[in-house]
Amino acid sequence: MIRIVDLHKSFEGNLVLDGVSIDIPDSDSLVIVGKSGIGKSVLLKCVTRLLVPDCGRVYIDDEDITVAGRDDLLRIRRKIGLLLQEGALFDSLDVYENVAFPLWYHRLFTRGEIDRKVRHYLDIVEMPEFIHAFPDELSGGMKRKVALARAMILEPKYLLYDEPTTGLDPMSAGIVESMMMKLKREMNITSLIVTHDPDLAHYIGERIALLDGGKLVAVETRDGAFEEQSPIYEYFIHTRERVHNNHGSH
Ligand SMILES: Nc1ncnc2c1ncn2[C@@H]1O[C@H](COP(=O)(O)OP(=O)(O)OP(=O)(O)O)[C@@H](O)[C@H]1O
Ligand SMILES: [Mg+2]
Repeated sequence: MIRIVDLHKSFEGNLVLDGVSIDIPDSDSLVIVGKSGIGKSVLLKCVTRLLVPDCGRVYIDDEDITVAGRDDLLRIRRKIGLLLQEGALFDSLDVYENVAFPLWYHRLFTRGEIDRKVRHYLDIVEMPEFIHAFPDELSGGMKRKVALARAMILEPKYLLYDEPTTGLDPMSAGIVESMMMKLKREMNITSLIVTHDPDLAHYIGERIALLDGGKLVAVETRDGAFEEQSPIYEYFIHTRERVHNNHGSH
């Protein structure tokens, strides 16, 4: 279980998180929505301690990652796969090296095991023929699939996704979505997903939470979130209208 308790984070007077608290029990999938720039990526980064919160706690299976020492931090991080916004591949490493990176970093496996795992996960994301390609030779959708293989390779208990389908063509988005569902159903992975996409939220989210003004101002079940009086439904309607209007004005 991931337990987020009263998380605060500001940057030079810009208060971004102002007391975020939520529990994510095992096997749950929690979707976080909210306006651009509101702090969703900051929240995910605090959960993995890529950013250190000003105060508050993040318990991963009862261990507080915000104060863990180096060895404990590494051990806790092995449980968490992270798909950062835009994939964030290392440009100077090829696909094989990108996917193998977490295994090298944690120094857990032999070369043979690493090789087998990299090929296995590239097969899963349907990218085996690109094993020696470099990121700048790949489309956005392909990069996202490689990033997903990298996030899965430690077979984590938790997967954190930041905008996994944003900017992808419908076909690639569909592949990423069905992979997320497969991971959830077949591997029982607990997930925390940031997305702007109501369809993805509905498809994958057991619960949906709205981040606004530094707090989770609404947390609903999937069904509750799409009822008319729900603030989350209202949020989706507004974003839909905005997307629609933007397209209309081009
Ligand atoms: N490393 C940083 N240093 C300073 N400010 C930061 C840093 N990271 C994020 N911020 C600020 O924190 C706020 C929230 O950023 P964040 O990236 O979490 O937004 P977001 O909700 O993920 O937006 P989007 O939907 O566009 O991805 C923004 O004002 C941003 O400028
Ligand atoms: Mg973001």
